[in-house]
Amino acid sequence: MKSLTIIPTYNEIDSLPTIVDRLRAAVPETDVLIVDDNSPDGTGELAEQMSSADEKIHVLHRVKKDGLGGAYIAGFTWGLGREYDTFVELDADGSHQPEQLPDLLAAINEADLVIGSRWVPGGSVVNWPLHRELISRAGSLYSRTLLGLRVRDITAGFRVFRRSTLEEIDLTSIESVGYGFQVDMTFRVARLGKTIKEVPITFVERTVGESKMSGNIVVEAVLNVTKWGLSARAKALATRARAFRR
Ligand code: GDD
Ligand code: MN
Repeated sequence: MKSLTIIPTYNEIDSLPTIVDRLRAAVPETDVLIVDDNSPDGTGELAEQMSSADEKIHVLHRVKKDGLGGAYIAGFTWGLGREYDTFVELDADGSHQPEQLPDLLAAINEADLVIGSRWVPGGSVVNWPLHRELISRAGSLYSRTLLGLRVRDITAGFRVFRRSTLEEIDLTSIESVGYGFQVDMTFRVARLGKTIKEVPITFVERTVGESKMSGNIVVEAVLNVTKWGLSARAKALATRARAFRR
């Protein structure tokens, strides 16, 4: 199986070389696609240098910072135009350990989407401030409840998609800009009746650079989850009402 690992970057100049080296060592057969949003710190130029030195490394440049969701959609679209069987999502900052990627890749043989999960037995988070843990756990609980999903870590960003899973999703219709994109994708995969498997990971908070998490990202995710949840319920009710009238 040929895999493409997509790494979105915005101002990750100090983390990128380490993460790519670790990835190349842990999973030498994967191709790498760095999707940079014109980072002011020069991450995009560094990615170009890395790409000229290693034929497995590719770079996609976007003109401005336009969110994690858009970066991944651009990366998926690039990869779907080429012969990849699986698509990996990996943060650039070291929070997702490439050494654990083989576990996720092994699981994709039996699932349509594999999620590296912090909130299943065996999963954990190292060095996260309490408020981040609360936001993540509450976000997963709220989404799980409203969207009727069984997944424990719905916003997780360390994932593997099968090509066929992405092909069945209309990527152009995805409106989530921020990390709510991860919830959006999980919900869509679940609604297609596909198998989602969570594999425990140890998420290690970054030691260099800054998180791009913001209040806007949280608000966007909460509003979208509420909207999707309510509209799914309204549709289910309408279907039941129709069946009742017959
Ligand atoms: N190209 C691009 N454009 N990359 C971005 C953007 C953007 O607008 N915003 C963030 N990134 C990149 C970062 O450079 C990093 O490589 C990765 O996306 C994750 O960003 P972080 O800012 O480090 O995220 P986090 O650690 O706060 O959040 C983590 O947890 C979230 C909640 O569970 C990530 O794993 C998220 O994916 C996850 O949803
Ligand atoms: Mn991070």
